[in-house]
This record gives sequence, structure tokens and C-alpha cells, in this order.
Amino acid sequence: MKLATTGKDLREAMLDYAGLTGRRVLVPTMGALHHGHLELVRLAREAVGADGTVVVSIFVNPIQFDQAADLEAYPRPLEADLIKCQAAGVDVVFVPDADAMYYPDRSVTVTETLLSRSLCGASRPGHFDGVCTVVLKLFLLSGCHAAMFGEKDFQQLAIIRRMVRDLDVPVEILECPTIRESDGLAMSSRNSRLTAKQRADAPRIHRALTEAAKLRDVAEILSSARADISASPLARIDYISLVDAETLQPVSKLKRPAVLAAAVFYGEVRLIDHVAVGQ
Ligand code: PAF
Repeated sequence: MKLATTGKDLREAMLDYAGLTGRRVLVPTMGALHHGHLELVRLAREAVGADGTVVVSIFVNPIQFDQAADLEAYPRPLEADLIKCQAAGVDVVFVPDADAMYYPDRSVTVTETLLSRSLCGASRPGHFDGVCTVVLKLFLLSGCHAAMFGEKDFQQLAIIRRMVRDLDVPVEILECPTIRESDGLAMSSRNSRLTAKQRADAPRIHRALTEAAKLRDVAEILSSARADISASPLARIDYISLVDAETLQPVSKLKRPAVLAAAVFYGEVRLIDHVAVGQ
């Protein structure tokens, strides 16, 4: 497994694979790798086959954090991550630091202006600008043909697909279904920051969304999910929203496939989840 720490290193490392017939696939992560990430890597390997190349990036991207405390607290168990990548058969790991990724006087940002306005984009201003900017840079530095993203971050996935479409980025976007713990909690690097009590309570998010999604009336769906989550004194709702599955704009009637999505704080830890409605 090769390790690259600057964009130049990564470009050079990728030159070794450039002449090969196999495809190159990137799995962008912020590290603290859990079973969900390893599933992304497994599917990436499956997608490119034995003669393909799997690249994992591990970078806690400062420009997508709107809260300095959240950036600070983000887990960074790099040694353990590298061992996991090696065991998962990753070919190249890219671990830049912020100075290697961003010029101090950088002045170009990628902004998506429709899908990023609702849900997490509304409560985390600038978040998706940071995501789009870093993802495009990672695509360009790695020269990969394809990239694998988790469906758990469905708004992120929709925005990246839109960026690739609108900017003619020659990268195929692949997706991996949400991986859950046995009690239903969506796997996330942030779960490791929950206290035992918060961790025991957090599966209520998925339970509440799943139960609410069985209803047919938009107001009832939203109030059912809200009531089930706010029944816990530990949970603080950031948003619960029912949006069109394609435009991500809030809906008032269920006519087309929709998504019921929530972001919930446990202490300082913000968890997101969603379920399909009417699909
Ligand atoms: O989903 C994530 O972990 C991040 O948003 C990503 C795609 C690696 C960009 O920093």
C-alpha cells in the first residue's frame, strides 16, 4: 500500500497505475474508518476488479466545518485507519494536511445553488461548498475514473452528482447503501463521540423516521417523527424535513417519491439519518 501526503505525491503515485488497463476508484473519507467505510472500500474493489486500483483519501476537510469545536473534536485515529486500509486491500492512501490541500490565499470555491439550500445546507452554511470544493480537488488529484460515496449522506450524494453533471466532470459516481448497527443506528464516525446513554438512545432516530414514513399525510408524518424523537430528553432536533427525492425541496403533498430526513443533536454530536417515503 502506498501512502501519499501531498497532491504532488498522489499524482506521482497514480502515475504508476496510469498505464494499467484497470479502472481507478476513489473512496473519499474523513477517516475514523468504521465498518460503513470498509463497505465502501469493498464495493469499490468489487467495482474495479483485481486489476483496478482503489484509492482512499483521509482528510478532515476544515472548509466544510461551520463550527470550530466540531472540527476540533472530529476523531483522527490515523494509525488504526491505515491498518484497516491495508487489511482491506487498498492500493493508495492519500492523507494530506490542510496546508497541502489549500493555498492560504485560495479564492476559488465550488458552489451548488439549489440542492444545497435545504436540510443540512440550511443549518450548516457553507458546508456543501466545502464538500464540493474538496471532492473536485480529490477527483483531479487522483485522476480516478470513479468515486464511491455512502447513501447515508444522501444530500451530499445528490449535490456531488449534480456537480459532476453540471461541470462535466469525467468521474462516475458510485453509491453504497447505508450501513447500520444491529439496533438500526446509521454508522457514522461521530457515533464514537456519544456517551453510553446517548448511544443507547440514538437508534430512536431511525425508528421514528421508519414509523412516520408509514403514514400518508405530510403534517402527520412530520409531527409523528418530531414527537418520537423529542420524547427523549437527550435528543435535540436540528431539523426534520420531508423533501422531494429529486429536488430536495420541502413537499406539502405526497405525489412523488420523497425522503424524510432528520438531523439530531446528542450533546454536541450531530447525527443525520433519512428514509424513503412513497418509493
Ligand atoms: O462524507 C464525507 O466524509 C466527506 O464529506 C467527504 C466526501 C470525504 C468530503 O470531505
